Amino acid sequence: MRADDFEMLSSLLKQRSGLVLTKDKAYLLESRLMPIARKRGWRGLDELARSVRLTRDEGLIGEITEAMTTNESSFFRDRKPFDLFRNIMLPTLLQTRASRRSFRIWSAACSSGQEAYSLAMVLDQESAKLAGWTVEIIGTDLSSEMVDRARRGVYSQFEVQRGLPIQMLVKYFTQVGDKWQINPKLREQVSFRIHNLLQDLTSLGQFDVVYCRNVLIYFDQPTKTKVLSQMTRVIPPDGFLVLGGAETVLGITERFKPLADHRGLYVHADHDGNAAVRRAIATAR
Ligand SMILES: C[S@@+](CC[C@H](N)C(=O)[O-])C[C@H]1O[C@@H](n2cnc3c(N)ncnc32)[C@H](O)[C@@H]1O
Repeated sequence: MRADDFEMLSSLLKQRSGLVLTKDKAYLLESRLMPIARKRGWRGLDELARSVRLTRDEGLIGEITEAMTTNESSFFRDRKPFDLFRNIMLPTLLQTRASRRSFRIWSAACSSGQEAYSLAMVLDQESAKLAGWTVEIIGTDLSSEMVDRARRGVYSQFEVQRGLPIQMLVKYFTQVGDKWQINPKLREQVSFRIHNLLQDLTSLGQFDVVYCRNVLIYFDQPTKTKVLSQMTRVIPPDGFLVLGGAETVLGITERFKPLADHRGLYVHADHDGNAAVRRAIATAR
């Protein structure tokens, strides 16, 4: 691939999605964008790059951006963040939100929906404690293809074998041919929409719990800082932020602090918020 085409495509990608592609990953552009070029009858990426330059076709640019995202996910990925929800966040919210009996969860960059559905399964298992409560789970992703997949809630044998306990497969899925579909009751509890983390986050409203895992790793430092700063505006002072195992706020923002003894779980660095969460956690135990 020509150096100027790489420069143009990688800077377009960063501008549209935040994803940073270093030169050693040029092969990724080749392997992921060639199918888009072939579909249009172009022989190579130089023709694709020329078309982008000439037409600035939003449909094509959107397709390129989506093709470059990594959509790896699984049910109960890394396990611990879901134990934290069941054992720390949920008991705390049951106290702190007792007067309004409702809370909202956001699975940001949800890919094909496994994280959001895993949280819905935990909530269903804890439903005895939630009688009379309204809990909203929203999953969002940049990729329209992933949002469609998440909405359908249909997964392969391989996907349901990764991390999903067999009892949950039996309880929450129906076999459809060689695939497995999430049951309607669970699907109704979760809504999915297209949303770009680089855009205004406040348009989605406030969230008591935000899972934003395994997406910031693809961004550069200023973009991580920008996204996390905006997160402070959508999470109330006594709300929670969950990041992925390879992600941290250290050196990126001072607005969130890790919650001691609970790896991956963050609260507002603001002392009052932090103290309120700690008090609630202590009394919820
Ligand atoms: C590796 S997946 C992580 C899925 C899930 N959060 C998990 O941890 O299993 C990363 C997702 O981030 C999405 N993504 C990348 N850039 C994004 C952006 N700027 N806004 C929203 N989603 C984005 C991708 O489409 C992809 O589905």
